[in-house]
Amino acid sequence: MKIAVLNGSPKGEISVTVQYIKFIQKKFPLHQFKLINIAHDIIKIEKNQSLFQDVINEIKTADGVIWAFPLYVFLVASQYKRFIELIWDRGAGDAFKDKYACALSTSIHFFDHTAHNYMHAVCDDLGMRYTGFLSADMDDIFTDEGRATLLKWAGDFLVAIEKKPPVGRAYAPLIHNGFAYTPGQVDGKVDNTGLKIRLLADIEDEKSNIAKMVGRFVSAFNGNVEVTNIRDVNIKGGCLGCMQCAFDNICVYKDDFVNFVNSTMRDQDITVYAGPIRDRFLSARTKMYWDRCFFNGHVPLQVDKQIAFLVSGPLSQIANLREIMQAMAEVGQHNLAGVVTDECADSQQLDALIDDLAGRLVDYSRNKYLKPATFLGVGGHKIFRDAIWARMRFPFDADYRYYESHGYFDFPQQDERYLEFNKQMIKMIQDPRMKEMVRKMMKTEMIKGYQKIVETK
Ligand SMILES: Cc1cc2nc3c(=O)[nH]c(=O)nc-3n(C[C@H](O)[C@H](O)[C@H](O)COP(=O)(O)O)c2cc1C
Repeated sequence: MKIAVLNGSPKGEISVTVQYIKFIQKKFPLHQFKLINIAHDIIKIEKNQSLFQDVINEIKTADGVIWAFPLYVFLVASQYKRFIELIWDRGAGDAFKDKYACALSTSIHFFDHTAHNYMHAVCDDLGMRYTGFLSADMDDIFTDEGRATLLKWAGDFLVAIEKKPPVGRAYAPLIHNGFAYTPGQVDGKVDNTGLKIRLLADIEDEKSNIAKMVGRFVSAFNGNVEVTNIRDVNIKGGCLGCMQCAFDNICVYKDDFVNFVNSTMRDQDITVYAGPIRDRFLSARTKMYWDRCFFNGHVPLQVDKQIAFLVSGPLSQIANLREIMQAMAEVGQHNLAGVVTDECADSQQLDALIDDLAGRLVDYSRNKYLKPATFLGVGGHKIFRDAIWARMRFPFDADYRYYESHGYFDFPQQDERYLEFNKQMIKMIQDPRMKEMVRKMMKTEMIKGYQKIVETK
């Protein structure tokens, strides 16, 4: 059989993920795993229609498709995302329909689930028969167990192509409401004196809802709001994954991106991202912006600030994207003040939602209001902390310096207070009488400290 492998690594074949594919190829020599470098060649694929058609022809003649990609910032790399957009823009979806498909990623398991949710939904939208994913840690191939699991998974996919089991859809088709927004007059502006607000928008069409939402948001304030259309920033391409930035945060690209971020994004009190839904995410252009921020490593660009999103499109039907927004805020140590979409399909209501968001952002910013992180931020921090401490210590030297100087290596193993408490309590319950007594006191003793706070503060 011929399996088309759509390679999502911007590094082309000099890629960790591709080694996993090569290993599968070696162990299943009777089948051909045809590697197509999508992310690496995206500029050529987009510019050259016949090259794009060659890729589509490979899909058409394949028995199955593997979406093989590295995790990039909660998702796939922007270059891969762009290819998915081109499939729709160029009406090439039929080539994918009814093909058996699966997804293989390599990563450090930081939001690998959101990337796989995305790819699964894309496969459903293309009418593919998606059989499942394997999310390998990038080091799994070094262990017997990791290799065995990989081969079992790949073998099962080949069997599925041959046996053609039924496959159900996990994600319902998106419904776009087609609403055209007409902003009304603003009564009573929000006072943003002294606050720096920047709106990063992805606007392709000035008549689009998102352009009008941005306009309404800006006019909700009595002072200045800086708006940047990210299409106007000179960004030459997506992150190459070369990691040459890791030592000192110096990016290999010679475009305006790093300078733009360093000179405009670091000192904002409020940052708002605005853009339309493209397939199951925001646009590849927006994703390119986020991926390129990787020049700053695993360090937040600014902390303790407010962020919000303005979105045009069916966000309420894409829980995965909503989760990514929340995670972006928490991992970046921001407060997500709100998300406004045009799904209400009512201009007056949308005006009110945008005005309310404007007021809330200023209120939260002035009050330095930061909600505690959920599992997304807490768990995300621990994954990065552990990675920068040990296995990614090299090459991410700049991250290490920042983490060390900012107290990010907050391993609970170093918590002297709890360690001492545990030692005493464990010793105490060696005595069966004490053990019984402590057991009975568990609930009341546990809240004593809390009660004291409630009484005294
Ligand atoms: C720009 C960039 C963003 C990344 N984002 C993530 C991420 O969000 N989650 C994660 O677990 N790993 C992330 N990684 C790590 C890669 O997914 C991992 O190293 C992968 O194995 C690289 O595969 P490749 O060599 O095939 O490109 C990122 C790496 C880069 C360069």
